[in-house]
Amino acid sequence: MDGNGRWAKKRMMPRAFGHKRGVETVREITRAARDLGLEALTLYAFSSENWKRPADEIADLMGLLRTFIRNDLEEFVANNVRLQIIGDYQVLAPDIVEMIEGAMARTAHNTGTTVAIALNYGSQQEIARAAAKAAAKGEITAEAIEAELDTASLPPLDLLIRTSGEVRLSNFLLWQAAYAEMWFTDVLWPDFTASHLRDALSQFSARERRFGGR
Ligand code: FPP
Repeated sequence: MDGNGRWAKKRMMPRAFGHKRGVETVREITRAARDLGLEALTLYAFSSENWKRPADEIADLMGLLRTFIRNDLEEFVANNVRLQIIGDYQVLAPDIVEMIEGAMARTAHNTGTTVAIALNYGSQQEIARAAAKAAAKGEITAEAIEAELDTASLPPLDLLIRTSGEVRLSNFLLWQAAYAEMWFTDVLWPDFTASHLRDALSQFSARERRFGGR
């Protein structure tokens, strides 16, 4: 969800203002995903490398996460949305861990769109954790690793969208992106709308996917 900081800077506002506007985009895009009938939407909210940011920015992001779960959980419940978390979220503040686990438990049986939020997520770390679990159970095969990834309960990744002109994966869903289609846009996350999502999906639908075949 890149571009929050630059969006705020353009308006001579603090980065926190951009992140706050970014959460409104999260709300709009999760609603759009639901209305479009997407099976799953995964949002990269906090990477394992984001701890390098100043403490006040980290605190702002954690505060926004708390408010989001507090305010939006009922809407998830009312609309059959299932909440999932990927990443090593257990190391977050105990109140956040409790809120997250409560929210996941409350929506666990929902059958509509799954909204997965990546928190303290790093794909290399995820793959290493999955490989260690696979090894502890027996053979290390691609299937065995895949079954231990944080995304094991999510459908295969079809489309990966990156906003704000960045053209790299930044440790996000590296394994899962093997055959995903990529869609890059210069639009900053706070300016990203349901209409951009529909554009990305319509271009995705027009692509021929061969998964290595011909
Ligand atoms: C990237 O923009 C954005 C983040 C690192 C944080 C995204 C998190 C939220 C919007 C809040 C919490 C999430 C949820 C799901 C409620 P950036 O700061 O790197 O912006 P820049 O690229 O312009 O510097």
